Amino acid sequence: MNEASSISGIFWHNSPVVIITSRREDEINGQVAVTLVTSSIVHTVPRLLIGIWKGNHTHGFIMKSRNLVVHLLKKDQTPLVRNFGFYSGREKQKFTGIDHSQGKNGCPVLGGVHSYVECSVLNAMDGGDMTAFLVSSDYGEIVRGGNWMTLADFYALAPEEWVIEYGQKLMESVNFSMPIIHKIDHEAFQP
Ligand SMILES: Cc1cc2nc3c(=O)[nH]c(=O)nc-3n(C[C@H](O)[C@H](O)[C@H](O)COP(=O)(O)O)c2cc1C
Repeated sequence: MNEASSISGIFWHNSPVVIITSRREDEINGQVAVTLVTSSIVHTVPRLLIGIWKGNHTHGFIMKSRNLVVHLLKKDQTPLVRNFGFYSGREKQKFTGIDHSQGKNGCPVLGGVHSYVECSVLNAMDGGDMTAFLVSSDYGEIVRGGNWMTLADFYALAPEEWVIEYGQKLMESVNFSMPIIHKIDHEAFQP
């Protein structure tokens, strides 16, 4: 039996849940993501690899500005996951009533998080329905520190109706992905 998808799912389950914010001219937006890994062995040159689904409004912001902020969350911040991960910035201004300031790279920095790191895009690779961004981690601060929220924590802590709602949203996203997931553009990214 081929268990490739279960094994790949292990990486998902234990991933930190992050909020990625970006700015495009005078507009700001942000989304939740779990597809993010460390990608530098050089401590003084920190980098991350971040997968962003093309259907997300935030994708266009990152493509245009080449700047973003990654926030690790505390376990008491599940409402932020709902705010940034269940709705699109096309339908909702997600920063209304949310504590935030402007980072050094111009992108929004959320308050009360575990930590955040401001990043700039070094390179990108097309993945059909998503783009994998290699980013430089330029400036960061530990805000509250301690334990951060993983996807397993989110599923354990969120109300059941949120988990059901997210499952339905995920199914809609899969429908968007299926026709384009294998249509990978192998042209090199232009920095
Ligand atoms: C728990 C959770 C995990 C998610 N993980 C990802 C992810 O890894 N990559 C991604 O592109 N979207 C992910 N999403 C979906 C986006 O956050 C969601 O589609 C969001 O509404 C996009 O907002 P936008 O259209 O304003 O950019 C996740 C959402 C949730 C709730």
